[in-house]
Amino acid sequence: MQMLVTAGPTREHIDPVRFLSNRSTGKMGFAIAQCAAARGHAVTLVAGPVALATPPGVQRVDVISARDMLAAVEANLPACEALVMCAAVSDWRPRQTSTSKLKKRGLSPILELDANPDILATIHDRKSGRIFVGFAAETGDPRPEGRRKLADKGLDLLVANDVSQPDAGFAVDTNRVVLLTCGGEEQKLPLLSKLEVAERIVAWVEQALASRIR
Ligand code: CTP
Repeated sequence: MQMLVTAGPTREHIDPVRFLSNRSTGKMGFAIAQCAAARGHAVTLVAGPVALATPPGVQRVDVISARDMLAAVEANLPACEALVMCAAVSDWRPRQTSTSKLKKRGLSPILELDANPDILATIHDRKSGRIFVGFAAETGDPRPEGRRKLADKGLDLLVANDVSQPDAGFAVDTNRVVLLTCGGEEQKLPLLSKLEVAERIVAWVEQALASRIR
């Protein structure tokens, strides 16, 4: 299959030295890309600013902001059969970005923000027969919000995790997730390495595509 994966945070610049972002390091998305490529799939990885090496056989597109990521996803969507939106997209960006460093003297301490586009919502009407997988990072039981996002974003599979736990979520090599499907199933996985979680997700997508083609 042709798989499009997004990973990492996005960065929304205030000026050349300051930005808004989040704690994502890209490990989960890179593990998905690595696993899919190792299973023989053609993988395009749209990566926010992260300090990770490109997995073997993966075609990588680097982006900075949420709007860059949207453009890269839109450009690569027509060729893909499955999209895994693992990136932690910044929901907001500064209303103004300065091309020179802002000086604190005379600066208002209030930062005005504009909402970034929701990538999944923007491309939803171009889903066609594709499989769409999303992630939900929550603090506390991720299932209620996970179910809501699964429905609201028109996903086939949602991978929900509680990022307030020290061994799951951001910056660690392990994850504890619940897989929520559009068919109403719920599968709680034990603590696994991110590569093992990636294997479960890629296997689920392979099966979903195979049953769709049949
Ligand atoms: N997502 C997206 N575009 C955004 C924000 C999120 O496509 N601007 C995708 C993420 O990649 C993820 C899913 O939507 O697959 C859920 O992201 P999450 O940040 O958990 O949810 P939000 O919709 O941003 O809602 P909230 O921040 O209120 O929890």
